[in-house]
Amino acid sequence: MEQNEKKTLRIGLLGFGSMGKTHTWAVQNLPFFYESLPFSAKVVGVCTTSQEKSEHVAAQFGMEIATTDEDVLINSPDIDVIDICTPNVYHYNTLKKAIAAGKSVLCEKPLCISAAEAEEIAAIPLEEGQVCGMVFNNRWIAPVMRAKQLIDEGKIGRILSFEGKYLHNSATDVNKPAGWKQDSTVCGGGVLFDLGSHVIDLLGFLCGPLVEVGGMSQIAYPTRKGRNGEEWETNADESFYLTGKTKDGAHGTITVGKLQVGTNDDLSFEIYGENGALRFSLMEPNWLYYYDNTAADAPMGGTRGFTKIECVGRYPDLTFPSPKAPAGWLYGHLASMHAFLGAVAEGKPFAPSLNDGLYVQEVMETAYASDQIGGLRMEVPPCL
Ligand SMILES: NC(=O)c1ccc[n+]([C@@H]2O[C@H](COP(=O)([O-])OP(=O)(O)OC[C@H]3O[C@@H](n4cnc5c(N)ncnc54)[C@H](O)[C@@H]3O)[C@@H](O)[C@H]2O)c1
Repeated sequence: MEQNEKKTLRIGLLGFGSMGKTHTWAVQNLPFFYESLPFSAKVVGVCTTSQEKSEHVAAQFGMEIATTDEDVLINSPDIDVIDICTPNVYHYNTLKKAIAAGKSVLCEKPLCISAAEAEEIAAIPLEEGQVCGMVFNNRWIAPVMRAKQLIDEGKIGRILSFEGKYLHNSATDVNKPAGWKQDSTVCGGGVLFDLGSHVIDLLGFLCGPLVEVGGMSQIAYPTRKGRNGEEWETNADESFYLTGKTKDGAHGTITVGKLQVGTNDDLSFEIYGENGALRFSLMEPNWLYYYDNTAADAPMGGTRGFTKIECVGRYPDLTFPSPKAPAGWLYGHLASMHAFLGAVAEGKPFAPSLNDGLYVQEVMETAYASDQIGGLRMEVPPCL
């Protein structure tokens, strides 16, 4: 390798469901977002449970190896990183083999399906340069990163209490067949494993690790349609309510569930310290709410109150899109391009049309003309 040549990290991906796709998207798009990456990365192989699917995915996303045998990727000398995006029950065996093969490993949450398995995995000594880690992606939401900074700077002082929630509504429809995440034989647990693992990590990251917990699970629908569509006995918690105490004495609660009508992907937390408080909701991903309890009180409240911090896309090192672009902004471009190319492919007219462009032009020109004559209202020439 030449002196200045970047190291290319070659990734073998296990599983191509929602997370396999997400990870592939992230790897392929890194160069757009980070201009001077000190490495390059490529997903070179994929393993799913169907050869046909693996081949389809490999062809679609430019991967070299398509297989249903994870050992092909794990034992390939051309692969540096194994990325585990399979259902939870499979993580343990894969982790053991991939670590033993000297690969760096990225593992989706939760690590395993039992603490005994996880302890065994965490105790495996790594070779020099071998790096293993978890996907607890919510640590990288901009307001979460800002919350961590404020806490580390001592802005809210000693943390006294916290509340974390992760709520979905997907278990409220009993006619919808359960997926593997509702089946503890594959998920390892229920919603505590699936959504709770995120919140436990997040609050541990922000408030310090929990050292005492109490728990209460809920199954509201003891029977529902199973994975094969037949009547099935629910075997995994649909909601879970946890109370806990951190190492530093903060007390709080974590509620996770898929029984919460009206929720979407509602991850949120509130953290209350001696000198301030923080609030965040994933459904409002641009903002962190910060209350400074040391701000002077004043008649009528002065300027005291929660400050809405505009975290938007202000990620360190990110060179694209603009740091002021709010979360979700790129979706607009994606959807616009999708709609336009779709229209071109079908030979159908597209809106917004050039006439829509003309209308905007006429309004702007008329507004300038009005400005020239002191703001008098003028007619926009008809154009649509
Ligand atoms: N970090 C997050 O935000 C997040 C979100 C969803 C899921 N997850 C985690 O990601 C993992 C995958 O979840 P998902 O939602 O992508 O699941 P999914 O059901 O959408 O996809 C699972 C994929 O794994 C494949 N698969 C199943 N068994 C396999 C095996 N033995 N070998 C190889 N491939 C196999 C399936 O063919 C499928 O492609 C789980 O551990 C889950 O907890 C994380």
